[in-house]
Amino acid sequence: MDSPKIGGIACVDWSTGSLVGPNARESVKTLGQMRGLFQNQNEFERMDLNTIIYRVQWLAPVPDGTEGGLFWGTTVIEPGRVGDEYFMTHGHFHAKRDRAEYYGCLEGKGMLIMMDTARRTWAECMEPGSLHYIPGNVAHRVANAGETQLKLTACWPSDAGHDYAAIRQEGFGARLLARNGESVLVPTR
Ligand code: 6PG
Ligand code: NI
Repeated sequence: MDSPKIGGIACVDWSTGSLVGPNARESVKTLGQMRGLFQNQNEFERMDLNTIIYRVQWLAPVPDGTEGGLFWGTTVIEPGRVGDEYFMTHGHFHAKRDRAEYYGCLEGKGMLIMMDTARRTWAECMEPGSLHYIPGNVAHRVANAGETQLKLTACWPSDAGHDYAAIRQEGFGARLLARNGESVLVPTR
């Protein structure tokens, strides 16, 4: 048997969540790929659509959709705003709605915004060391309310999948906005 150079499927820098190794995959989300998600359309159109909003690195040791497996990933959200609204992830329900997930904050500060299938929306503060359990049937999105990158690590079932359409069409029931220098979760209607 080949002896691996590192003792596992990849190497993680536990302070930043950064994954290194041939199995680590990566994706980048630019502002242009998030059209329609931020409240202020005019401000959105005035900004550079190539601006990177967040990056995801992840490990998929089994094929996507495999029942019983687990994926691991790290998301790095840049600081910034579109108008009053903080840079954030797209947000999703899992395609298999009842699949849960863990999020842990490594660096930076922000909010984990969650919404159930009845559109009830709430949030938890993310700061280094905070660990968050996202129950099944709950959509999740992270907004960076700080002035530095927000880094979070996550673990989710390999058959969870992503349903982005519901969020693209209806959004969450609240948005994280800057109000007098504070971040406030403001209901959308
Ligand atoms: C998942 C996780 C997480 C998430 C990223 C980016 O289910 O895969 O929740 O890895 O995908 O933080 O967020 P979006 O998937 O909403 O773009
Ligand atoms: Ni998820």
